[in-house]
Amino acid sequence: MTEPRGDAAKWWQTGVVYQIYPMSFMDGDGDGVGDLMGIVSKLDYLNDGTEKSLGIDAIWLSPIYPSPNRDFGYDISDYRDIDPRYGDIEDFKLLLREAHDRKIRVVMDLVINHTSDQHPWFLEACKGRDNPHHDWYLWHKGKNGKAPNNWFAYFDKRAWWWVDEVRKFYLSTWCRYQPEVNWRNPRLKEAMFDVIRFWLDLGVDGYRIDVVNWFIKDEKFRSNPYRLQLTPPDYQKHIYDRNRPETHGLCREIRQLVDSYPDRFAVGEVFTNSPEEAASYYGNGDELHLAFNFAFLFRKWGASNFLREVDAWDRALKDRGWPTYTLSSHDQPGRHYSRYAKGKETDRRARVAAAMLLTLRGTPFLYYGEEIGMSNLKIARKQIQDPLGKKYWPFLKGRDPARTPMQWNGSPHGGFSTAVPWLPSHPDHRVVNVENQKGDPDSLLSFYRELIWLRKKTPALCRGGYRALVFPPTDCLAYVRAHGDRSVLVLLNFAGKRVTFTPPVGTGNDPLEGTWQVLFGTDRGKGSRLDVSTAIELDGYEVLIVQRTGGAG
Ligand code: NOJ
Repeated sequence: MTEPRGDAAKWWQTGVVYQIYPMSFMDGDGDGVGDLMGIVSKLDYLNDGTEKSLGIDAIWLSPIYPSPNRDFGYDISDYRDIDPRYGDIEDFKLLLREAHDRKIRVVMDLVINHTSDQHPWFLEACKGRDNPHHDWYLWHKGKNGKAPNNWFAYFDKRAWWWVDEVRKFYLSTWCRYQPEVNWRNPRLKEAMFDVIRFWLDLGVDGYRIDVVNWFIKDEKFRSNPYRLQLTPPDYQKHIYDRNRPETHGLCREIRQLVDSYPDRFAVGEVFTNSPEEAASYYGNGDELHLAFNFAFLFRKWGASNFLREVDAWDRALKDRGWPTYTLSSHDQPGRHYSRYAKGKETDRRARVAAAMLLTLRGTPFLYYGEEIGMSNLKIARKQIQDPLGKKYWPFLKGRDPARTPMQWNGSPHGGFSTAVPWLPSHPDHRVVNVENQKGDPDSLLSFYRELIWLRKKTPALCRGGYRALVFPPTDCLAYVRAHGDRSVLVLLNFAGKRVTFTPPVGTGNDPLEGTWQVLFGTDRGKGSRLDVSTAIELDGYEVLIVQRTGGAG
């Protein structure tokens, strides 16, 4: 069982991070788009220091910088300001102060693989080959008037775009409005590092770094080899446009910069399906503090499906870094509440999933609204805003279904805004909303809240080691989290039927001796005692968390 290294576990290891999609969280000025003052008005909901609030430890804000919004903020035209849609820098400073007063850390999104095509650096770069900014981007004169290679663009029909003024193509593997920067240019690098300093100097607590494994491209711009796969991005082996070895050196430098400020951190979005690749960006503890593992986003329901991913992630990390887990994000066409829906069982499934996320060894990243069970909105073609949806309709509907306004109450637009929101509210906001759930001890919101506070108070859960008891499991996940002389046993029944959990025997290190007490459970009273060394009957979708109170340590 591995705990964080050193005595003092860091806040970004023990805490719970809550992702806010700013356009959709709370509209403070009535224009239909969420903003910073809207977020400020909801900080008490997130954590007011008491167990009446959700209790999260940090908010990660998807990009709030000025942007033409071709990719909803992931195309930045000014790295040192706030988009007027969200407010201004004074509002941001207020948000920081108000969040810090409540012990909520603030994590910014750092999108430095590409800028907007409207960023002054790119506008300059297009003026001429001699322009000092020209080499800040990735250019190629092409081959026989065509693109130089076969690289793939996620949101557009091609990755290379011609600029007459310089008689060259620029690279954008997202959409044409997101030109990619040249990290080999020392002046570009210094300018980006200054951006990183700028927000750290203002007091932000960390960064979520966008597509970290795309930063450096093959110097010779070689074509990727093809492979037999049906879905577009996968029909190439991305060996020349991603995960280039030099990226690790860059990550080490970013780490040093971030670490030169006390108590800050960076979590990388490593855009990959491979846990090994994601793990490689921890370096030897000298690259990123954390990397996302998106495996759960793609797993079907089932104890063994999830446990296999936990195991693969642990093996890939090999104790050199602290894991992260997440079930939903702004990048998925679907929220996990919908992904795992099964008629009347949906809500109980959401609880099992939340209990897993909040009790595994690692930092949980929640996505706004999952705590009340927000689900996907069915989007008509004419409502689509997301470039991904525009490109792949009707095969993919894009990411809008999971970006709808937060559902605060049952009033029109879910209390998110007095105006018509930029994306329609999910019609179920009349029932599924914070107002309805906050006073109800049996609601999903109360479930998250209770578990988050329990996690905070229980070192074994927020920083302890982890050991799976049954591998591979059938219906039930069973693991022990331990810190010092405290052990907590987590039992999660992923089946809708009653199952028997039989403790493993003959391990020679049986952790289940002694007396155990219920800390949290869907079907049993808190504080009741339990003998967990014999078989336990678990109800359908039962969540049971027990702590050893005496006996073996
Ligand atoms: C990954 C971000 O999470 C996604 O939202 C964005 O579209 C791409 N990077 C491009 O920045």
